[in-house]
Amino acid sequence: MEFKYECSDCGKEYPSDKIIYRCPVCSEVNEDGKMQKGNLITKIDSKHLKSLKTKDSVTPGDFLPYKIPNESTFPVGNTPLYSPLRLIKKTGFKNLKIKNDGANPSGSFKDRASQLVAAQALHFGEKTIALASTGNAGSAMACAGAAYGLDIVLFVPESAPKAKLLQSALYGAKVVPIKDNYDAAFSLSIKYTEKYGGINRNTAYNPMTVEGKKTISIELFNQMRRKAPDAVYVPVGDGVIYSGVFKGFYDLKEAGLIDKLPKIICAQSEKSNAISKAWEKGELNTIPEATTRADSISVASPANGRMAVRYINESNAWATEVTDEAILAAQLELGSEAGIFAEPAAACAWAAFKKDAENGKIDKDAEVVVLLTGIGFKDMASVEGAVEVPESIEPTVEALGKVFG
Ligand SMILES: Cc1ncc(COP(=O)(O)O)c(C=O)c1O
Repeated sequence: MEFKYECSDCGKEYPSDKIIYRCPVCSEVNEDGKMQKGNLITKIDSKHLKSLKTKDSVTPGDFLPYKIPNESTFPVGNTPLYSPLRLIKKTGFKNLKIKNDGANPSGSFKDRASQLVAAQALHFGEKTIALASTGNAGSAMACAGAAYGLDIVLFVPESAPKAKLLQSALYGAKVVPIKDNYDAAFSLSIKYTEKYGGINRNTAYNPMTVEGKKTISIELFNQMRRKAPDAVYVPVGDGVIYSGVFKGFYDLKEAGLIDKLPKIICAQSEKSNAISKAWEKGELNTIPEATTRADSISVASPANGRMAVRYINESNAWATEVTDEAILAAQLELGSEAGIFAEPAAACAWAAFKKDAENGKIDKDAEVVVLLTGIGFKDMASVEGAVEVPESIEPTVEALGKVFG
């Protein structure tokens, strides 16, 4: 399918016949304390998009720049859309839905981007994909690499969460811990691809990371009988998932399949609120540090911040910040009242929806989708202390009496 790239800052267009990561002009300028410029938007040929309007049904693949090879070898997406009865009753939102992307092969939303980057690699005949990650993106890419037979080189700060690193190693990735932070891992991964070749999948750096994530919106369109919801709550760190969700609905609108974009609400922790603050103040600054317990959305200098702020405005939405206490309470509520074990970052979306619902910010009749982006099993420590396994008992009737009275 034909497509080109467009710089999201200066609007300059670039052809897609070879791999390009960022606008060479805008990405040159890097001001301290400001969100970086030069990220590219993938523009799908509008004639192609418009041709989709007359089709009886559309698939996410109809909107993607590269064909996904052997989809069933790495079956990403088609994740369940819950109508969570108990939470519907509790909140009074009768059209509430939860999209559980923790049901993807590696347990997170990141599989969507990794699948498209794998397709990009196969399209260009590349065998190796390198990236920096502190968690889910790395394990998702490693999982895709295992399925498609690609070599994955994963640069991580040595402090990255162990479970996600073990998961990546188990899939066969070459994990390279480095004695520094994520930013250092990011630039080393770029030096790696410059020196040794292959494709770089760094989030926001490779435009396919936004593009791959848009498949969720096409899926929602299909799952909701060919219409868009009124509002979608998305947990935000770097702002790539957020931008992917926006892009999916944007392309559906370009195709003439929906009339208007849903409000896409940016959910952040008060302790990692760079994008929320930039949107609120209209100043595209980074923040000095991010300290939220929800590690997957703990980002001080969001790699896709500018694009995300732009899309919050274009979808006529807003950013909602929640406390870490609210995030952990949301995690417990989702587990005990909907049967969904989400990691803290994902639960941030539910916490933000609850806050907006309580403040009357969102209409009770609205069709709301809360997007849960990752499974809780990767971070068991987040629920330690909040729930516990009781002491063992003797296998006797007397012992039963002590427990049940
Ligand atoms: C589970 C989960 N939720 C949300 C996010 C936030 O995505 P983004 O950094 O693109 O905003 C991430 C990113 O790592 C994630 O792993």
